[in-house]
Amino acid sequence: MADNKGVETTGHQWDDDEGYPLQEFNNPLPKWWLYTFYATIIWSFIYWVLYPAWPSANGFTKGVLGWSMHTEFKEDMAAVQVQQKAFNDQMERLSLQEIAKDNKLLQYAISGGKAVFGDYCAPCHGTGGIGVKTGGFPTLADDDWLFGGNLETIHETISGGRVGQMPAHLKSAGGNFSDAQVDDLTSYVLSLTGQSKDAAANQRGDALFHGDAGCKGCHGDKGNGSLKGTVDGSPLPPIGAPNLTDAIWLYGGDRQTVRDSIAKGRSGKMPAWSKESKEVGKKLDPLALKQVTIYVHSLGGGQ
Ligand code: HEC
Ligand code: HEC
Repeated sequence: MADNKGVETTGHQWDDDEGYPLQEFNNPLPKWWLYTFYATIIWSFIYWVLYPAWPSANGFTKGVLGWSMHTEFKEDMAAVQVQQKAFNDQMERLSLQEIAKDNKLLQYAISGGKAVFGDYCAPCHGTGGIGVKTGGFPTLADDDWLFGGNLETIHETISGGRVGQMPAHLKSAGGNFSDAQVDDLTSYVLSLTGQSKDAAANQRGDALFHGDAGCKGCHGDKGNGSLKGTVDGSPLPPIGAPNLTDAIWLYGGDRQTVRDSIAKGRSGKMPAWSKESKEVGKKLDPLALKQVTIYVHSLGGGQ
């Protein structure tokens, strides 16, 4: 048996038959470890006293600091609400132009407006205002406007709603023109975006567009829409007649869809969102109207 002198023992010793004593060694823990261990025990007592810790008959011990995740959350929320109220008050007072000039308010309005848009507008206009062709829901994220893209006009559109009235032209749909004439008109409209090469048909359509069919009275002499176009030198009323020359379509630019627009007419309807409107439906308060106006304006096509 090795000599174990120099190793601390607990003093326990058993003699076994062969004469080798069985000893119990004592290997003390390092001091640094021991003190850390005591410190954690002391800390846990302090913690129990200061913070919520033990289950009790009426819930749990609250701790002398009275801290809780719930109160902390409530305090954070209250701070956010104070900040929000300050922004909201300012936005209610200021004009759209003034809000747009203040970068902090602008960012706040855009993020609020984005949420409003997602809830109320995206079902028709698509996420981010990308538009839905098949339903005649215009893209709002481009610089092509039916009614106008400055802040005031967008606000007016959203508050009061809009209706775009394109009359039917085919006899069987209540109009005054034959199938052949509607075909010619379709060719002429397509020629404005280089899609129809049938010169004779284009010419007959051109004569109707600028003559009997009265298209120019709404879409303008050049067919570039009621917003930019003119008729015989005068501006057109703001009726939302689309630009037919820019290859951006409300309903679609293939021959069949263009023909349908001319033959049967169209009547796109944008609901009114202001509480002052008599229209039945969901409404937005003035602050939300301002925010969503600024958001739409920010989408890329704002003028
Ligand atoms: C029920 C479907 C529908 C909803 C919901 C809707 N819109 Fe519209 N919106 C339309 C249609 C359709 C038009 C095009 C009207 C026309 O054909 O003249 C339009 C037009 C517009 C225009 C004019 C675009 C231009 O080119 O001048 C703006 C701006 C607009 N909407 C914003 C909004 C906002 C903001 C909301 C949400 C508060 C919203 N819309 C909700 C259907 C909708
Ligand atoms: C009373 C005014 C008016 C007259 C007249 C009129 N339009 Fe329109 N047109 C509109 C309006 C407004 C719209 C948009 C309809 C909507 O918003 O739903 C439109 C839409 C269209 C469209 C669909 C465009 C797209 O982007 O999908 C075509 C094509 C068109 N018109 C061609 C014509 C032709 C051709 C004529 C003459 C035969 C004509 N329009 C006469 C007002 C008019």
